[in-house]
Amino acid sequence: MSRFTKEMETRAFELLALYPEKRSATIPLCHLAQEQNGYLTEESMVQIADLVGTTPAEVLGAASFYDMLHTEPVGKYVVGVCTNIACLLQGGEELLGHAEEKLGIATGATTDDGMFTLEDMECIAHCDHAPALQVNYRFFGPLTNDGFDALVDDLSAGKLESEVPPHGTLSRVQRKHPIAVPLEEIVRHRRDSDAKEGERLAAKAATEAKEGSN
Ligand code: FES
Repeated sequence: MSRFTKEMETRAFELLALYPEKRSATIPLCHLAQEQNGYLTEESMVQIADLVGTTPAEVLGAASFYDMLHTEPVGKYVVGVCTNIACLLQGGEELLGHAEEKLGIATGATTDDGMFTLEDMECIAHCDHAPALQVNYRFFGPLTNDGFDALVDDLSAGKLESEVPPHGTLSRVQRKHPIAVPLEEIVRHRRDSDAKEGERLAAKAATEAKEGSN
């Protein structure tokens, strides 16, 4: 399924209502589509472009900039092993090599059953638990090879479903209410900020012109 379901479409409209400019909802909508489909399909990018008033190419351009957004199918669990310095010193590269063996895939690939995608990560800010990894952006570590095997086995057996939702679900806690600040107030604040910035730039230009003429 690619386009938003009715329920997801309702959430999409709620998200759009949070932003003074529809385009600002592009990334949140990409995450929403990824929550539904596991990755960003072409069809969902077309729909997001319609919703925010831009082109599918611009949605793809924005989405492809961010590592957390996938424009190709990925596994139910995206396992990212950190091999940056703290983890490297604690065996991160060896852990990644072991992960390839355990899952039977190369880094960057997805298992045939669609359960796991393996990634080599830069620092995931879990250095004090090196060697560390993420599964769908939930942190684990420090991990031995045996610990990695146990983690994969538990994920495969569905034992960690309460801790690690399927790829794409950033949070199970959803906003219940729209933002408290009225839209008109946001618009006015933006207009005032723009005016102040304009005045600042004009004053700067005048100062520079004066200094140049001296
Ligand atoms: S270096 Fe691996 S989490 Fe920071």
